[in-house]
Amino acid sequence: MEDRLEHLRSLKKEALLGGGADRIAQQHAKGKLTARERLTVLLDEGSFREFDMLARHRSSRFGLDANRPLGDGVVTGVGTINGKQVCVFSQDFTVFGGSLSEVHAEKICKVMDHAMKIGAPIIGLNDSGGARIQEGVVSLGGYADIFLRNTLASGVIPQISVILGPCAGGAVYSPALTDFIFMVKGTSYMFVTGPDVVKTVTHEEVSAEDLGGAETHASRSGVTHFAMEDEVSCLLAVRKLVDFLPSNNRQQPPTRPTLDSPTRLNTSLQSIIPNNPNQPYDIKDVIREVVDEADFFEVHESFATNLVVGFATLDGMPVGIVANQPASLAGVLDIASSVKGGRFVRFCDAFNIPLITFEDVPGFLPGTDQEWRGIIRHGAKLLYAYCEATVPKLTVITRKAYGGAYDVMSSRHIRGDFNVAWPTAEIAVMGAKGAVEILYREKGKGANGSAPSAEEREARLQQRIAEYNEQFANPYEAAERGYVDDVIEPQETRRELIVALRRLRTKVDTNPWKKHGNLPL
Ligand code: HXC
Repeated sequence: MEDRLEHLRSLKKEALLGGGADRIAQQHAKGKLTARERLTVLLDEGSFREFDMLARHRSSRFGLDANRPLGDGVVTGVGTINGKQVCVFSQDFTVFGGSLSEVHAEKICKVMDHAMKIGAPIIGLNDSGGARIQEGVVSLGGYADIFLRNTLASGVIPQISVILGPCAGGAVYSPALTDFIFMVKGTSYMFVTGPDVVKTVTHEEVSAEDLGGAETHASRSGVTHFAMEDEVSCLLAVRKLVDFLPSNNRQQPPTRPTLDSPTRLNTSLQSIIPNNPNQPYDIKDVIREVVDEADFFEVHESFATNLVVGFATLDGMPVGIVANQPASLAGVLDIASSVKGGRFVRFCDAFNIPLITFEDVPGFLPGTDQEWRGIIRHGAKLLYAYCEATVPKLTVITRKAYGGAYDVMSSRHIRGDFNVAWPTAEIAVMGAKGAVEILYREKGKGANGSAPSAEEREARLQQRIAEYNEQFANPYEAAERGYVDDVIEPQETRRELIVALRRLRTKVDTNPWKKHGNLPL
């Protein structure tokens, strides 16, 4: 018996070392943690239970049969994050560069299947040289098995990808199919083809960092939602995100205790809107003032900054926040912000997270660049997402609500449940100057019947703008028609949102039966 115990212990000890002490030292020298160290940071202490620690690859090609490390380059299993069950896989770069073999893929699929069965989020820590070259098409098949599971799990359990090393070729498509991607500045890369292939094909010279580093994907492409300074802060941010989420689409998001009073008045908001309607203010100041303990967990912080999205709690209830940002491009909606917002709204709807919309939007961005790249199609994504969402939808119009953007931003007409405006709201088809120029295009005559002088024209324009503003640049016509339920003082915002949110917890709404909708992709 003692022999057998010794044998088991030595096997497990060997497995814990992955590719061995030298390769672990190389991993550390690159400023990276090992697969197991990462799980220690990610999961609650002592909670991890490993699957398939003793699995080995089955390949004998290229002399691989002489090297069959335990675990085959990926650590999989279950653990908890602040008590919530999660399933995880963590690729081990010290074993064949974390490359994906048949067995490595089977292990990932097994833990994904387990996540679906128990209804728990799946978190993948990616650090891999891609398909294991020696195994050829078998490893490509392994990727496809994972892609299929990512797709079937979408909207059923939250899926989070953390990129902590290279992630290249088709391998990028598993993270891309998941709900959130985290990257680390300086050590993680994602690209379909690396810098060398880019140079051969397009003659562009670009570094790996510029082509597919964390900052590139956080600000230019929007592929990653988070670009973190180092691995530890990255993994801690994943923990924070998980805290907002339900375990699956059949559960409500978890409430948490808060010391912040539900009736706290937001006095600083009484004067936050500048007198000049063209002057910006920071919508994040509004968000932080309203939510519990000023704690706003922003998603996609550096991408499409004219729309702010993220998670917070109100009286302990998790909410998804979508807000136009007047401090960036005047809060206009463009292609990038529509896509960003649409995806966030759909995530929240899939996982029963109520949506709070703060609206200050002058409209969609005009111009050939946007039109030719399809602002119509992409803007429709945000519209579609809001229309189909059946979670509680609460909207506060702080200032501008112009044109189609008024309809899109969770308006009453597309099943908004609680729509209020501040007295500073301007709800109209378009801004005053544009409207007046169209309505009164060069029709006027001067005082003596001849063409008006420049001064006369300017005075008349100003008068008409004032008339238009008087009539339309306010919330009262919308309130008269019930398009907004009430006009509230800015300081009442937190209190009223919480009262409405509590009421809406029992909301039931459905969409017609369909196989699936046809989102304008
Ligand atoms: C087998 C691999 C491997 C791979 C790395 N290794 N990638 N083994 N298959 N794909 C091994 C190396 O041989 C080496 O083993 C060890 O891992 C560490 O790799 P290094 O090259 O020494 O590390 P580093 O200098 O940090 O470079 C890392 C790297 C590089 C950038 C990932 O290894 C690399 O370019 N690998 C190939 C990447 C690639 O082209 N993959 C296929 C992509 S296509 P030894 O024993 O020598 O130390 C793909 C298709 C997916 O993945 C399709 C899905 C549909």
